[in-house]
Amino acid sequence: MIIPPRGMVRRRLLQTGVGTSAFLAAPALVRAQALVPTPAQTEGPFYPVMLPQDVDNDLVQVHGAATPAKGAVTHISGRVRDAAGQPIVGAQVEIWQCDAQGLYDHPGQSDLARRDKGFQGFGRATTLVDGAYRFRTIRPVAYSGRTPHIHFRVITADGRRLTTQMYVAGDPGNDRDGVLRAIRDPRQRQQVLVSLAPADGLEGGALAGVFDIVLA
Ligand SMILES: [Fe+2]
Repeated sequence: MIIPPRGMVRRRLLQTGVGTSAFLAAPALVRAQALVPTPAQTEGPFYPVMLPQDVDNDLVQVHGAATPAKGAVTHISGRVRDAAGQPIVGAQVEIWQCDAQGLYDHPGQSDLARRDKGFQGFGRATTLVDGAYRFRTIRPVAYSGRTPHIHFRVITADGRRLTTQMYVAGDPGNDRDGVLRAIRDPRQRQQVLVSLAPADGLEGGALAGVFDIVLA
């Protein structure tokens, strides 16, 4: 849920004819509204056993690799906030996902030799003063039994953790995905569905989406 700027609240209250006393109380009301926490999801079996040498937030380009990752380049950005809407600064955001062929960089992955060595598979970012993070990765793809998703783990400076997954809004596999469907609260399910659109002005031919994360 987006908390409207105070000016917007004022206009809305004035339009609906709410009296002065209610208007004066409005900022406190806005602060009291809690954001819906991002649902926790299973870590799954493919969190890296050994982290790659390159763990930066650009998964498309592995340091020293001759070729970039196969797949549709996708920029994922967002903000990490608490339920009161306050940005969480200095949190570590980790993502991991399979390559464009559906293969994870993990010893438990069958057919591991075929994995795309140009795809980093795992990356890290640290949230800035406004709670913002960003990654350059590939559009997630489906693999056996799962709709496209990116695994996320957030660890705050004071040790709070959230493990979850991000999905592509409108993907035809979403309705059949047991992990996604296990999120019963429709507001929480909506939170993990990210619309991808052309990353105009950011990178030609790439996609971009926003995944905001709310810690309980
Ligand atoms: Fe997965």
